Amino acid sequence: MRDNKTVLMEKTAEILAAKGLTLSESEVAALFEKPSDPKLGDLALPCFKLARTLRQAPPKIASDLASCYEDVPGLARAEAVGGYLNFFYDSASSVKVVEEILADPRYGSSREGKGKTVCLDFSSPNIAKRFHLGHLGTTVIGNALRNLLNFCGYETVAINHLGDWGTQFGKLIYAYKHWSSKTQVEEGGIDELVRLYVKFCNLEAEDADLKQAARDAFHLLEEGDEESLEIWQYFKEISLREYEKTYKLLGITFDSYNGEAFFSDKMPAVVEEIRAKGLLELDNGASVVRLDEENMPPCLILKSDGSTLYPSRDIAAAIWRKKEYDFHKCIYVTSAGQSLHFAQWFSVVRRMGYEWAEGLVHVPYGTMSVGGEKLASRTGNVVLLDDLLAEAVRKCGEVIEEKHPDLENKQDIAEAVGVGAVVFNALANSRIKDSDFNWEDALSFEGNAGPYVQYTYARSASILRKGGAPEGETEGYEPCGEETALIGKLAEFPDTVKRALAEYEPSIISRYLLAVCALFNQFYHNCRILNEEGMTRTFRIKLAAATHTVIGNGLDLLGIRRTEEI
Ligand code: ARG
Repeated sequence: MRDNKTVLMEKTAEILAAKGLTLSESEVAALFEKPSDPKLGDLALPCFKLARTLRQAPPKIASDLASCYEDVPGLARAEAVGGYLNFFYDSASSVKVVEEILADPRYGSSREGKGKTVCLDFSSPNIAKRFHLGHLGTTVIGNALRNLLNFCGYETVAINHLGDWGTQFGKLIYAYKHWSSKTQVEEGGIDELVRLYVKFCNLEAEDADLKQAARDAFHLLEEGDEESLEIWQYFKEISLREYEKTYKLLGITFDSYNGEAFFSDKMPAVVEEIRAKGLLELDNGASVVRLDEENMPPCLILKSDGSTLYPSRDIAAAIWRKKEYDFHKCIYVTSAGQSLHFAQWFSVVRRMGYEWAEGLVHVPYGTMSVGGEKLASRTGNVVLLDDLLAEAVRKCGEVIEEKHPDLENKQDIAEAVGVGAVVFNALANSRIKDSDFNWEDALSFEGNAGPYVQYTYARSASILRKGGAPEGETEGYEPCGEETALIGKLAEFPDTVKRALAEYEPSIISRYLLAVCALFNQFYHNCRILNEEGMTRTFRIKLAAATHTVIGNGLDLLGIRRTEEI
């Protein structure tokens, strides 16, 4: 069933078009407003903005339009009052929406993507480095997109394209052999690898021999030298062991960890292909593909010493993935700083004559800071994601201990809410915007934050525990203003899901959830539920159950754990 608001918008667009005024979807949406008093209707169209284009007085427009809305599904009536046209939803349609949600635990899902596979390349940290706040965006946005895709019927392949290849591994292998040991790495983990890398970088600046030694070491690795490979593999294991802990806490899994190294032996053929297609040119010793027509700097394919680069590895990976998964789309989630990189190599793939290049999508996001500090990986004061998550869990634990000392599983709930708070915060705003993490906002149980949503969800769960199963006859029930407003919002969920996916924008879901929570809490505070009797009680319990389904599904999509109790 379509939601009333969407039906009304479409009808309005149609009516205005017939009057010679063609508007886009968002322009039509902007015409409407929510009456401050529900007695004035569920939705209103102020006709003042239309007066100029339609060359009529607003009250005249309102009364003319009113007669055009006969037989609109879900609409009881349209009423002109002054320059306003007020719409009243039909209560039977509201009751039906609730039944529809109750009948479908996966309410909001669709089969839009049936038979299509989408690859998602996200998280993808560079191994032997710490997992810091800069990786939070790609990790949680990627995961949310994956959930959205699955919810809409797509098959997904979640790929952690590890940064596990390149000259830095020559440096690390050299440093490990000369300045460290297995015991030290075992004990220190990634910290020890970082120490080695930093030490090497500090010394190589004044030591040409050292630089050469690193190049030689990487060369050996590239040639498949057994000892080098073993050390490299060991670095990878040490790194993954730590990353896995973070992924586990976030509830994120991957289908593939094929990173850059996996593609190293697939490179020569691809470079040859680019050359054979006449795209490769020499530029100061390096081999590049010129992108003058696209107004972009050339895409680097080979360094002057013949070694491959980040773009060439991405091209090889895309070609391999197309063969392996026959993807409908391949989505890359990285910081906006890499936008040029993706635009460049997407163009190269297009120029190679691959039509499927149209299915390559870059999803960029803005930078995240804590208390205004940027979190560049090369600065000393990086905020590690583990530390941030642990602190969030600790702080939530304190609040829960204080508010609900008798709860069972307090630690588990603190973990769900604390981690959820960080994830929600990272998904709360348009992804492209830079954002600043601040504890007070992120952990609020009352404001626009994850704990508030989880708390509201738990509140709906508690009504169901106390009120019994959402069953019984409710046909003919006339919902009150608070109920109609909440139902109207719940009915928007399927369209909201579609929009979030179409725009690759999980924040559409998080903002929607905040709106549902606000309306549910108004309903909860203004309407008696458990103390009611008869059909009203039954209907309100059903409405709590429908809200429980929608918020629950929304949290699942964002990758936030549900808690039935807080
Ligand atoms: N490892 C890269 C980084 O940390 C991100 C990789 C993104 N994926 C890709 N296929 N380029 O910046």
